[in-house]
Amino acid sequence: MAKTALVTGGNRGIGQQVARVLATEGWDVLLGTRDKQKGDAAAARLRKDTGGRLKAIELDVTSDASCTTAAGKLRDGAIRIDALVNNAGVYGRSSSTAQTLETNFFGPLRVIDAMLPLLRDGATITNVTSGLGALANIDEPLHGVLADPLVTREQLVAAVRAYDGTDAYGASKAALNALTRILAPELAPRQIKINATDPGWVRTDMGGRGAPRSVEQGAASVLAGVHATWSGAVMRDGKRIAP
Ligand SMILES: NC(=O)c1ccc[n+]([C@@H]2O[C@H](COP(=O)([O-])OP(=O)(O)OC[C@H]3O[C@@H](n4cnc5c(N)ncnc54)[C@H](OP(=O)(O)O)[C@@H]3O)[C@@H](O)[C@H]2O)c1
Repeated sequence: MAKTALVTGGNRGIGQQVARVLATEGWDVLLGTRDKQKGDAAAARLRKDTGGRLKAIELDVTSDASCTTAAGKLRDGAIRIDALVNNAGVYGRSSSTAQTLETNFFGPLRVIDAMLPLLRDGATITNVTSGLGALANIDEPLHGVLADPLVTREQLVAAVRAYDGTDAYGASKAALNALTRILAPELAPRQIKINATDPGWVRTDMGGRGAPRSVEQGAASVLAGVHATWSGAVMRDGKRIAP
């Protein structure tokens, strides 16, 4: 039986390429997109390119209602998920601090909470992070919370809610790395592996034309999370890096 992957932000950039590779490998792929039309167009494009099985599902990671509705539709369709890729993200001046934290940190958390009942035991969760989220770049007081090995999910959420610094993108990804570490032992009884993967600096709408890495290279780095046999790590190109 084919495995099923859900890739958020799957209509363009790194997410689209991750979806393309998985479909080529024979996975059933769900493109989670906030705009249904864009999702349907991307799914049709990728079906044509790969001959694979891809479908769009409306999923705005900043909306509780959207995540709950999407999970309900999948449950009603008896869909089980073998790989969840939390790829949707925003960066840059066009996004406010609140929107950046909401999309890049609370988004993956919201999607994990909604989809967890649909994940098969032994599934993988891949949180797409960034080198800009390295702990070394993060200022106090968030730094102290993220560096604390005993920090709880509730403490982490409270610290991100209270964030009022100037680097929301770095903070969102550093907090996502900490969340990955916190959730790993919680998910271990179901053999669900959760890791954060950094694609590097990639030529997408977000990364810009001057970025050194191709979308294929970035997606390959993310895909290491889909196939990971370990949990709780931050990785680039399949190798652990400092969180
Ligand atoms: N590119 C880089 O150099 C780089 C480096 C490190 C990490 N990353 C990370 O890699 C991931 C993908 O980046 P990318 O370069 O492929 O970016 P991108 O080309 O800008 O694509 C971003 C994707 O996220 C989706 N998205 C944004 N907000 C969303 C929401 N609320 N709900 C659902 N989908 C949403 C976008 O959908 P719409 O089309 O509807 O806007 C789009 O599909 C991000 O998490 C990013 O932070 C990228």
